Amino acid sequence: MSAKHTIAMGKYTLNINGKNISIEADEKMPLLWVIREIIGLTGTKYGCGIAQCGACTVLLNGNPIRSCSIPASSVAGQPITTIEGLSPDNSHPVQKAWIDEQVPQCGYCQSGQILAAAALLQKHPHPTDDDINMAMQGNLCRCGCYTRIRKAIKTAAASAKPASTLN
Ligand code: FES
Ligand code: FES
Repeated sequence: MSAKHTIAMGKYTLNINGKNISIEADEKMPLLWVIREIIGLTGTKYGCGIAQCGACTVLLNGNPIRSCSIPASSVAGQPITTIEGLSPDNSHPVQKAWIDEQVPQCGYCQSGQILAAAALLQKHPHPTDDDINMAMQGNLCRCGCYTRIRKAIKTAAASAKPASTLN
């Protein structure tokens, strides 16, 4: 028997990429759905829906979270960064390194990978392999781009002061 879900509409304000956006939606609606379906930012992807793959990663107060598994209403007012907000022109060091190293294959996981990497470099500007393993282990890539992801993180670390645009 499937669980019943009672809809309780709520009004709240999300701070997405530096802008306050008024939302009226089911209070239990996951952040991912609000970002994609209500706000219209489709760079954040749906993969598993159960917090296991990292495709839906966004940053909350600079930390990676799984937007598929957290109600948007629970993060009202807190700064959220999606891939669209990481930089205005793909100039973030991680984005530049991703381009230089030609990281993506199909691209589906890459928004989450880039945001996880940006958060890592914010905390560890010169990460060890263990730091990278810890930070990136929850972001799966079905195309197996892991070697290029690691290389690009090291390229970004070597190139600049990363993540200066994070909220
Ligand atoms: S879609 Fe959220 S972790 Fe997979
Ligand atoms: S590039 Fe295809 S899933 Fe990661």
